[in-house]
Amino acid sequence: MDPLEKVIGNMTRDVVRKARLGGERTGDIESLLSSMEADKHIASSDVLVDMAHLIMLTKQQIVHEEHAQPLMKELLTMYELGVPAEAFDPSYEDIHAGIETVLTNRTGGDVGGRLHIGRSRNDEVATCLRIRTRDIILEQLEALIRLRTVLLTVAEEHVHTIMPGFTHLQHAQPVTLAHHLLAYEQMFSRDYDRLCDAFNRVNCSPLGSAALASTGYPLDRAYTAELLGCDKILINSMDAVASRDFAAETLACDTLLLANISRFCEELIIWSSSFVQFVTLDDQYCSTSSIMPQKKNPDVAEILRSRVGTLLGAFVSAITIVKGLPMAYNRDLQDLNPHLWRGITEVRRDIDVLCGMIKTAQFHRERMAQEAGRGGTTTTELADMLVRDFDIPFRTAHHIVGKAVRDGSLDLPTLDKAAEEFYGRTLSSLGITPEKVQHALAVTTSLSVRKLPGGPAPQSVQTALAERQKELEKDTNFVSEKKRQISASLDKLLTQARRIANI
Ligand code: ARG
Repeated sequence: MDPLEKVIGNMTRDVVRKARLGGERTGDIESLLSSMEADKHIASSDVLVDMAHLIMLTKQQIVHEEHAQPLMKELLTMYELGVPAEAFDPSYEDIHAGIETVLTNRTGGDVGGRLHIGRSRNDEVATCLRIRTRDIILEQLEALIRLRTVLLTVAEEHVHTIMPGFTHLQHAQPVTLAHHLLAYEQMFSRDYDRLCDAFNRVNCSPLGSAALASTGYPLDRAYTAELLGCDKILINSMDAVASRDFAAETLACDTLLLANISRFCEELIIWSSSFVQFVTLDDQYCSTSSIMPQKKNPDVAEILRSRVGTLLGAFVSAITIVKGLPMAYNRDLQDLNPHLWRGITEVRRDIDVLCGMIKTAQFHRERMAQEAGRGGTTTTELADMLVRDFDIPFRTAHHIVGKAVRDGSLDLPTLDKAAEEFYGRTLSSLGITPEKVQHALAVTTSLSVRKLPGGPAPQSVQTALAERQKELEKDTNFVSEKKRQISASLDKLLTQARRIANI
C-alpha cells in the first residue's frame, strides 16, 4: 500500500480541502461554491494543461520520469476517452480538484501528489479559460470567413439589382443589392478584425504564475506556453492570475458582432414581410402558426436578432464581476466563467445559421426595381444636375426641386414655377428640357454617376468586390496559420506525453 495513503486516508475526498478543512458542507454551500457546471467547458483543456505542466516538470527534473510515467499514462487515457464522470462529482469544488483527485486515486498519493508542484488552481484555471476561449474564437473566425464568402458570392450576382436605399426607413436613393450586401460584409470584416485582435491577447499563457507570486521552482514558462500553442507567456504573475479582461474583450467583440447580425436580421424580417416582398426566406428558416395556417414567420431571423441581448447581458455580468476586485485572484472570478460560456459558445452557430439563411434566400429583383425609384429617390440627382449643368447653387436647386415635390409633380412646368419663386428665372429659360429632367430622374442615371470608391455604381461595386475578395483571402490566411501553429504545438505536446508515458 502507498505509505502516503495511510497518512492521507480516504482518497475519494477532494485532495485540495481534506487536510486543512473539516466538516461536511451542506448541499447549498457546495452548490454555491462549485464551478463544476461551467467547468465542463474547460475539462478537456485542463487535461492538456496538466500534460504540458507535467512534461515541463519532467524536462526540468522537478519530477522524475518514474513518477511522471504513470501520471502521464492516466492523463493520456483522459485525453483519449474524455474526463471521467467521477471527476465531475459535485463534492469537488471544481474540475481541477476533481481531475487531481481522480489521478491521485488511480496512481497513488506519492505519484498523483506531484502534479501540482509549482502550480496553483489560479494559474491553472486562467490558462484553461484562455485556451478554450481562443479555440472558440478561431471557430468564430472561420464562420465569419464563410459568412463573408457567401455575402461576396451573392453580391456578385446582384451588381445590377437596383433597389431603394433607405434612411429613416424612408425611400432615400437608389442603390444595388450588391452594394447593400457589401455594407454588411464590411461590418463583419471589422468584427473579424476585432476578434483577431482579441485572439492575440487571449492566446497567452498564465501558467507558471502559481497563486499570484510565481514560484521558486525552476519552471520553464516559455516551454509550457509553446506546448499549449500559446503565442507568448503572460509575463506578470499577478496580472496573469487576476485579469479577465480577455474574457470581457471577447464578449465585447461578440456583442458587437451580434449587434451587426441583429441589424441584418431586422432587414430580412422587414424585407420578407408582405408589405415589402424583397426576399423569400427558405422554409427551413421559418415557422408557422399553431392557429393561423397561412403563416410563414421569419423566426430564425427573430431569434438571431435577439441574441445580442444575451451577449450584452453576459458582457455586463462579466465586467460587473471584475470591477473593484483587489489584486490578485478572488473567488468572484469563478462566477464570471458561466457568463463567458453563456456568451461565446453559440456565436459560431449563429454566424453559420445566418450564412445559410442568406445563401438560400431568394431576392426579388423586380420588386426591388419597382421600389427603387419610388418616393422621389432620384430627386437629389435632379438637383445635382441643376448645379452641375447650370451653375445653380445647391441650396437653391434643393428649394426648387423640394417645392416641385411639394406641389406634387416633377414635370418641367411645375419645376419652372418653383424656379421662378426661388431663383427668379424659369429652368426652361436656362435651356433645361423635359428630356434633361427625365434623364436626371432616371434610376440608372442616379446609380451610374455615384461611382466614387465605395459608391453603388456597378463599376465601383465591381472594384469593391475585387478588393473585398483580396482582403478575405488575407484574413483566411490568418486563421489557417493560427490553427496550423496550434495543432503543431499540440502534436508536439502529445509526442512528449507519449514518450514520458512510454506508449
Ligand atoms: N474554480 C476556480 C475558478 O474557476 C479555480 C481557482 C480556485 N482558486 C482558489 N483560490 N480557490 O476560478
